[in-house]
Amino acid sequence: QLMGQLLGMKEKEKKLASYLEIEHCVIISGDVDEQSKLHEEMGRAAVEALDFLLPEGTNIIAVMGGTTMAEVANQMNETLSRKRKLMFVPARGGLGESVDIQANSISALMAQKTGGENRVLYVPEQVSVETYKPLLQEPGIKKTLKLVDDANCVLYGIGDAKLMAERRGMNEEVLALIETKAAVGEAYGEFYNQSGGVVYKIPRIGLQSDKLADIASVMVVAGGKSKAKAIEAHIKKAPRHTWLITDEGAANEILTGI
Ligand code: BG6
Repeated sequence: QLMGQLLGMKEKEKKLASYLEIEHCVIISGDVDEQSKLHEEMGRAAVEALDFLLPEGTNIIAVMGGTTMAEVANQMNETLSRKRKLMFVPARGGLGESVDIQANSISALMAQKTGGENRVLYVPEQVSVETYKPLLQEPGIKKTLKLVDDANCVLYGIGDAKLMAERRGMNEEVLALIETKAAVGEAYGEFYNQSGGVVYKIPRIGLQSDKLADIASVMVVAGGKSKAKAIEAHIKKAPRHTWLITDEGAANEILTGI
């Protein structure tokens, strides 16, 4: 019976990948919205997938923030650095999240868990372009940004638009915009609608979503029925070689729509 279930899940993974037009999907059973514990399993699945995907030798991994990514970090261990030298960098500057789920902290935790290295990217929040432009000339910031540019892997999460706008304490104006423009999801500081069109973008330095196509390994980790719309819309614009690690809650919701 277990075999049958496993085969069933493999079928579903194939179906989802082919519908979303990406290389591969991993679906864990259950729905993280209903059982928060399942985040651990989704994290573990992401780490396993990474171990399969990453080449031997030096790897530069750019990571984003969020609670899902924090759980991926938690599940990492030294197995990942067997035959590999890992360098973790935050993909973008801070995005107004609480410290433990910021990309800086997550990449540091990943380095700690795997015995790899990390670099930080500290750029102040909510500053004008005039203020942060000169920061780009700082040697420390330049070095980290160069690493982000050279990353061969990017690891990130996807959020529900409204939730993310609120969590990041965005102002009334932006909240209203997100509502009227019917944004469904957020990734890379970009709020996008059902067709994946960007309706608002938090201007930040670091990796931009249009660079994904040039990165060898692209992995998204996001689950829960509540994120189904956000996942589907985002993946419409994602490069074909993207891997999606998700759960049945999101997968079933996306697949019933077809
Ligand atoms: C943010 C990322 O920190 O986390 C976003 O920058 C992502 O790209 C979000 O949308 C997802 O958060 P969570 O907590 O739902 O995993």
